[in-house]
Amino acid sequence: MAPGVKKTFFWQVDKSCPDPEIVRQAGLILRQGGLVAFPTETVYGLGANALDDRAVKSIFTAKGRPQDNPLIVHVADIETVYNYAKSVPLKARRLMEQFWPGPLTLILSGGRYISELVSAGLPSLAFRMPDHRVALELIKEAGVPVAAPSANISGRPSPTTADHVQMDLQGRINAILDGGPSGWGVESTVLDVTGEIPVILRPGGITPDDISAVTGLVEMDRSLGKNGLVCGKPRSPGMKYRHYAPSAPMVLVEGDAPDVVREIKRLSREYIQQGKIVGVLCREGNQNEYSGVLAITAGTVFDQFSVAAQLFDALRRFDNTGVEVILAEGVEDRGLGMAVSNRLRKAAGGNIIRVQNLV
Ligand code: TXA
Ligand code: MG
Repeated sequence: MAPGVKKTFFWQVDKSCPDPEIVRQAGLILRQGGLVAFPTETVYGLGANALDDRAVKSIFTAKGRPQDNPLIVHVADIETVYNYAKSVPLKARRLMEQFWPGPLTLILSGGRYISELVSAGLPSLAFRMPDHRVALELIKEAGVPVAAPSANISGRPSPTTADHVQMDLQGRINAILDGGPSGWGVESTVLDVTGEIPVILRPGGITPDDISAVTGLVEMDRSLGKNGLVCGKPRSPGMKYRHYAPSAPMVLVEGDAPDVVREIKRLSREYIQQGKIVGVLCREGNQNEYSGVLAITAGTVFDQFSVAAQLFDALRRFDNTGVEVILAEGVEDRGLGMAVSNRLRKAAGGNIIRVQNLV
């Protein structure tokens, strides 16, 4: 094998009852400084021993991740956070009790013993306890906190299946645990609890309403501007990069459903006239509205959960189709839709058209 190329083991595991021998081997790889991709309830993660500088560094190399983008420390129980965080405010404790295991990452004011590469030089540290039996057993078996970003090449859509991980990272990591498709399909909510009022840095499965039910107040980071454009410097370094991007450029069309469909039809005619091959990312049932394009669906208009679950797979499916521009239907910026909108806006890299019915 060429230098730097690794043999990647691919192990299928039952998500409700993983084979203990496979978990043991994967845990050993992590403990010894290797990289293991594993399923979580949000997306697949790429794990390394968070106490080991070399292991953490190899995550950045395998993903091509910018060094200034910090990682989340994954734990298998609440008590472990107290071993590795400098301080845990009461509201963090209450949030952990309410939402862990689950898609909520908490930014605390600092860590102990954890490799400094994990926080990428920031004085704070992110913690999360995933709601997935394979992930929890793997972390327990490793016996160390596990630093894990999403298991994709940086900039690509996050992986929601083990095949997505394999496509991006085969030969760059030691093992992939295949526990079937992820449930939520979008990454966790990142919540900064270092200040007086908690601030959402990245929207996800746990919504502002869920959080404020526990903490009273909650704010959105200023950079998550409504128009999808970054206003000001995001407090979460990862939010400043174009992300989730399919290979072809994408234009996101937002507004009321009928106006969106009308505008995408108009734009697709325009692009086709220019000789371009057009893809459309739409809700199930809308694909018949569009002709002469490659329409790929993600979920239904009635069910935000189905859109989130299918979004990243749909974005990846445009790759290698020859499509030269993708026109995407926006979603309502509410509840879980906030997370989906945020990912779509990032995937579009700021190419957003907002339509309004002017009649
Ligand atoms: O659902 C998830 O959160 C998945 C699964 C694998 O757990 N993980 C994930 O990790 O999405 P990643 O690395 O792709 O995204 C982590 C985000 C980035 O935007 C990063 O900048 C932010 O969390 N982050 C991590 N530590 C931070 C810190 N100390 N302060 C501010 N933002 C932080
Ligand atoms: Mg990521």
